[in-house]
Amino acid sequence: MLKTDVVIIGSGIGALSVAGELCRHNKKVTIVTKALRKSSNSSLAQGGISVVLSDEDKCEYHYEDTMIAGCYHNDSDAVMALVTKAPEIIKKFIDTGMDFDKDSNGNLLFGREGAHRLSRIIHAGGDRTGLKVVEQLLRNINENVTVNENEMVLDLRISGSKCNGIITRDKDNNIKYYEADYTVLATGGIGQLYPATSNDTTITGDGLAMAYRAGCRLENLEFIQFHPTMLTINGKTLGLVSEAVRGSGGILVNEKGEHIMEGVHPQKDLAPRDVVAREVYSHYLAGEKIYLDISTVENFREHFPTVTEICESNGVDLGKKLIPVGPGVHFHMGGVKAGVDGTTDIESLYAVGEVACTGVHGANRLASNSLLEGIVFGELTAEKILASDLHSQPMTDTFSDITLGDLPTKAEIQSKMMEFVGIVRHESAIDEIINWFKKYMPANNNFGKIDILHTPNDKLEIYNMLTVGYLIAIAAKNRKESLGAHYIEK
Ligand code: SIN
Repeated sequence: MLKTDVVIIGSGIGALSVAGELCRHNKKVTIVTKALRKSSNSSLAQGGISVVLSDEDKCEYHYEDTMIAGCYHNDSDAVMALVTKAPEIIKKFIDTGMDFDKDSNGNLLFGREGAHRLSRIIHAGGDRTGLKVVEQLLRNINENVTVNENEMVLDLRISGSKCNGIITRDKDNNIKYYEADYTVLATGGIGQLYPATSNDTTITGDGLAMAYRAGCRLENLEFIQFHPTMLTINGKTLGLVSEAVRGSGGILVNEKGEHIMEGVHPQKDLAPRDVVAREVYSHYLAGEKIYLDISTVENFREHFPTVTEICESNGVDLGKKLIPVGPGVHFHMGGVKAGVDGTTDIESLYAVGEVACTGVHGANRLASNSLLEGIVFGELTAEKILASDLHSQPMTDTFSDITLGDLPTKAEIQSKMMEFVGIVRHESAIDEIINWFKKYMPANNNFGKIDILHTPNDKLEIYNMLTVGYLIAIAAKNRKESLGAHYIEK
């Protein structure tokens, strides 16, 4: 039995923000991550962090923009907490040495992204914000934090309605039991349930599936944000082309050079993401190719080194000023029902970042609010843990003997998800995918506990994907009207 004060599952910005604060207060923290410490959506994030730090901006504006993007389906208290606490928490983060991009006078540079009324996005290394923030947060943790890489969490250790830690399998196939006073889920979203995504290859909904098996409520699962501009060549998605490119003047055009967002929405290329993604997708379905025309974007290579590298390593000639793009899954607004302080339905279990659903994003997330969420709610989660006095209880783990039959491949799940619960959904067809998922349910007729100790990691990952895909399909079926990122064609 490995004893630690706090075990955190995942190593993105939410996880590292919690760990950074706790270790300063001498809590022993163990981070367990499925691949390497930098293998996360956070490290891949390009855009930046939206925060009210410029003189012309106000928290009320940030609040309203977040609510409008979320179609007022947001939890207004969570939004208010995010936008009002952000300036102080981000200033504190800057004081730890975080170097956001500045102009020649040393003032922060503010970028623009979709559905923001003004430029309020701070960024680092041009479009390397996520990686730079992760690197700073890794520098901020001390010797109280242990990071265990290449270790897959099999399940939460639940006794009654309390979480006492986790069970994992490491890269040498050893099963490990962790006993922890506090367990934090920070496993990110669900991008790999779909064939086209900006997400890291590790992001298969594991945290949601585990929380579901533990009895947590999951909310808003039907709201899945597609990013309109993924580099797409011959139908293959090859990486993100940041919305900040459109914020700097990039426009979406068809093969004839016509501006496709003209007349679709008053904010044109910077309309809410669901609107732009649907428009790009409708052209794609009609067999047209769509490009991001970057001819008016100044100093492209300097401002967008990551996009430049992704394009050039895939043979795109940036001299032609046209980047071929298509939509891909980017962010899950739904997740484990949690407070802004990470608390969930289960005592001692917390959720932070994309895996959590605090309601802050409503039906559609405002651009660059997610790194912010990880940092701000990560800090509130750490504060909650520091103010609590919970202790793990010794428990005897009992295991189900239900074994899994043959499962579909990842590619089969991805293609079904895109067809039935993708950018455009048809209510009458959703039952088809629900019934398809049911074929893979174990004998007890739900995606519940299985014999995890004898289920290899790759099969458990597929099982997690099936569990979450099934729950997303049920949520999509239950929401009868289009709202934000959930679009039903009648
Ligand atoms: C982007 O760079 O386009 C993504 C930013 C975000 O999703 O917040």
